[in-house]
Amino acid sequence: MFPFITEEHRMIEAAARDFARNSIAPIAAEHDETGEFPIQTIREMGQLGFMGIEVPEEYGGAGMDTMAYVLAMVEICKADASHGTIMSVNNSLYAHGLLKFGTEDQRQKYLVPVATGQKIGAYSLTEPMSGSDAGTMKSRAVLNPEGTGYVINGRKSWVTSAPYADFIILFTMTQPEKKHKGVTAFIIETDQPGFARGKKEPKLGIRASATSEIIFDNYFCPVENRVGAEGDGFKIAMTVLDAGRIGIAAQALGIAEAALEASVAYAKEREAFGQKIGEFQQIQAKLADMKCRVDASRLLIYQAALAKMAAKDGGGRYSMEASEAKLFASETAMWVTTQAIQIHGGMGYSKEMPLERYFRDAKITEIYEGTSEIQRMVIARALTGLR
Ligand code: CAA
Repeated sequence: MFPFITEEHRMIEAAARDFARNSIAPIAAEHDETGEFPIQTIREMGQLGFMGIEVPEEYGGAGMDTMAYVLAMVEICKADASHGTIMSVNNSLYAHGLLKFGTEDQRQKYLVPVATGQKIGAYSLTEPMSGSDAGTMKSRAVLNPEGTGYVINGRKSWVTSAPYADFIILFTMTQPEKKHKGVTAFIIETDQPGFARGKKEPKLGIRASATSEIIFDNYFCPVENRVGAEGDGFKIAMTVLDAGRIGIAAQALGIAEAALEASVAYAKEREAFGQKIGEFQQIQAKLADMKCRVDASRLLIYQAALAKMAAKDGGGRYSMEASEAKLFASETAMWVTTQAIQIHGGMGYSKEMPLERYFRDAKITEIYEGTSEIQRMVIARALTGLR
């Protein structure tokens, strides 16, 4: 049906589906309840190549493309979006950034162990007073007089995987007077002095993925750990987010697919007024609309993945396609999970079934890696050329 999806793509999709069904689905509800980080299954996902799908084999990855990444993400997220969050940050926000902008030494030291899943990577842009307006950060990195490294101070927030991350790509200000052109990227080792984690955020959804603040108190970052030149950080952050947004769109699609499948099964099984509820037109209309939106999300995600793959060699941008996919798929996930609960009635509201988890997990996809409002801004700016 889709000529651009090869046998090899279908193989990684099937491998992800098997692992998700056999190893993730059985533990998803318990980890959601306890909020415990699923370190064991994440390590196993690393061994299977899911933690660095697009990273070339020479750097420890699976050496596949963006289509393989999105197909695998969908399958993992159908079982559990928390695993998907950890996988997505590792793959797109961390590994993609280092692969694209890191030096050979940085890739050997900081990409190989993360692409293999032995270590966990994170990405830190947001601050308590700087979220959507990402160029207004208060944290600072100051080059020491010897020119050997930077002293970093400040506080970053909402860092996915931070409580367990070994390495973090940090975006902070080196020249605040230059605003976004004064942002620089660094690789942070989280076992070094001057680095601390804040409290783990209690969250509505994706509860098994750990999120926290990180605090820098005279943290020394050697100059070799700067990614790109001083002032390149904002563009690096935005470029990496474009890739990340495709992964979040795939996460949203996985959640929506799971909710739709559960709803179809329930509509065929549950009876009311002497017939299957799937025979009522109101349920049929819901299922039909859910299916259309799920399939439309999938096509936008494929469009974005193909745009990213086409941009690879030319270095072109695919911001609009990535934002379209994330916007539509995340709003679809929220809408479809709401309908799925309605179809299930009281059972949908109960923790006995996974519907309420899907609903809670879906919400974050409209917020992180750029809110729906930001995605609309990116799309409209790309369409009009206006700011
Ligand atoms: N790729 C490359 N360059 C880009 C770019 C992109 N996608 N987007 C912008 N740029 C460049 C522009 O070309 C411009 O370059 P010049 O200075 O050379 O002209 C520069 O960056 C500044 O661009 P803008 O003037 O458009 O910047 P802006 O301040 O208006 O912001 C924005 C644009 C789209 C709103 C951006 O700030 C944005 O995406 N904000 C949302 C941030 C976000 O997604 N945060 C989530 C963080 S991660 C997270 O959620 C936590 C986690 O752990 C997962």
